[in-house]
Amino acid sequence: LPLATKTHPMSTMAADEEYVGNVKRQLAKIFEISLKETVPDEPDIEPLIAACTAKFGDYQCNNAMGLWSKIKGKQTPFKGPPSVGQAIMKNLPPSEMIESCSVAGPGFVNIVLSKNWIAQNLQSMLINGIDTWAPRLPFKTAVVDFSSPNIAKEMHVGHLRSTIIGDTLARMLEFSHVEVLRRNHVGDWGTQFGMLIEYLFEKFPNWEEVTEAAVGDLQAFYKASKLRFDSDPVFKERAQQAVVRLQGGEPKYRKAWAQICEISRNEFHKVYQRLGVHLEEKGESFYNPFIPRVLEELNEKGLIEESQGARVIKVEGVNIPLIVVKSDGGYNYASTDLAALWYRLNKEKAAWIIYVTDVGQDQHFQMVFKAAKRAGWIPADDTLYPKTTHVGFGLVLGDDGRRFRTRSSEVVRLVDLLDEAKTRSKAAILERETSKDWPEEEVEKTAEAVGYGAVKYADLKNNRLTNYTFNFDQMLSDKGNTAVYLLYAHARICSIIRKSGKDIEELKKIGKIVLDHPDERALGLHLLQFSEVVEEACNNLLPNVLCEYLYNLSEIFTKKFYSNCQVVGSPEETSRLLLCEATATVMRKCFYLLGIVPVYKI
Ligand code: ARG
Repeated sequence: LPLATKTHPMSTMAADEEYVGNVKRQLAKIFEISLKETVPDEPDIEPLIAACTAKFGDYQCNNAMGLWSKIKGKQTPFKGPPSVGQAIMKNLPPSEMIESCSVAGPGFVNIVLSKNWIAQNLQSMLINGIDTWAPRLPFKTAVVDFSSPNIAKEMHVGHLRSTIIGDTLARMLEFSHVEVLRRNHVGDWGTQFGMLIEYLFEKFPNWEEVTEAAVGDLQAFYKASKLRFDSDPVFKERAQQAVVRLQGGEPKYRKAWAQICEISRNEFHKVYQRLGVHLEEKGESFYNPFIPRVLEELNEKGLIEESQGARVIKVEGVNIPLIVVKSDGGYNYASTDLAALWYRLNKEKAAWIIYVTDVGQDQHFQMVFKAAKRAGWIPADDTLYPKTTHVGFGLVLGDDGRRFRTRSSEVVRLVDLLDEAKTRSKAAILERETSKDWPEEEVEKTAEAVGYGAVKYADLKNNRLTNYTFNFDQMLSDKGNTAVYLLYAHARICSIIRKSGKDIEELKKIGKIVLDHPDERALGLHLLQFSEVVEEACNNLLPNVLCEYLYNLSEIFTKKFYSNCQVVGSPEETSRLLLCEATATVMRKCFYLLGIVPVYKI
């Protein structure tokens, strides 16, 4: 295998000495020192630190057992994993982070963090801002290829999932200081354009002036032209000619194509605007000019073979080959993706290229990635950069357990779906006593935040690979793990602070956080874990990890802290108000990363 290109050196962590966000990483540094001391003959032992679920500690170090199996045959002062654990504990350098340690079972070192240290970290976050808790990832640039609907075809709930999941991944990476190229890989190049263009000419003799309004629903337009294509051989012949003329660059055909794309683009844009999602379109057509060169390179490397008139690339472990030139000489989805990948690696210098589509496309991407590995574009080892990942997701189901459709079994229009979410949440808001004196604008804004937030959260909270059932009643319920519940929990915290009558900015400067009550401590610890959770969600490209964190935060706040610790009027008022503020701050950042707009009043 050829060697990977060296264009993307892993950046080092050297610049991040000051970075304190990640508890796990800081503990790892301390344990690394101890491990060197404990087993000097075993260099480069990586500290294994994990959050604890048991009540013996907050974190644990899990190195003892693995170390023991490495050293047991050799000359060693240890008698078994527990004694290795004891030594690791004894050799820890003094640290203000750690309150105490103990060794349990087969050598786990349980770590109890210092509550003063936790409190100090919360306080400095409040003063310096939550961005100081942003994870640092070991690469600079990423491409997130998401949403990517097809021109004139349906933008369906699958594209909605891709849009929501992709936007969140982009937000999390951006927060982590990665430069993210948000790419809308729209399907704007293909044989369907022949029939669309011919149909446009036929229906609208003055097509150059035709507007979106005249064409109406592009999906219906697509269907009608398809009907024409299938039923009239003369039209079909013309449509096939049109493809050739379009691809040959004939101005009239290019112009008609551009017009159809523009109409579609305006439709897509409405959905993105509502969802607050920003994307940069580089559609399939953009990569078209690069295809011949890229295929030439692959050919020179000996990857391309002839098979039944087509040109293909064989990849390991898949019994069908990747077709890159069809038997009629045309390019396809795969040739475009190879050119796009080449462009992203070489022109855009992306270190991580992430594709968000339904799991149905997994095989396509695995084949493209394997071809890229064969070509030496990316290393075979997936832990090295540059790398590519397919972020697959499951289906959206209706209440009947089948693919989500309207009653007349049409594809659900995304705009209608968002409308309904908003209408329903507006009705619920108007029912509340507290909203009686809200200005109309506030009702509207809250209804949108809650309605769209509910749709997004219902999607994001599940592991993306599982199918999920689309149900308005469930997602708009103010109980359980929903955006509505979380948004209201946040608003309630804001109202506790407001009602205290204290100037929270002033308190941040002069006040001190104290975590004496166990529930204060539990809340403080959970808050401090924000950074490592975002980092995990980024590394595994799993938004549900962040949702789970947010939901737990809200539960710890409400059921533990707020139930057992009086805030306003207590001797600990200042510290507790600061804890409320820290909670609200972290919740807001979670909302932001999930693409949800927070509300401050309920
Ligand atoms: N347009 C495709 C679809 O609707 C998704 C494109 C995904 N991105 C890519 N680079 N293939 O299924």
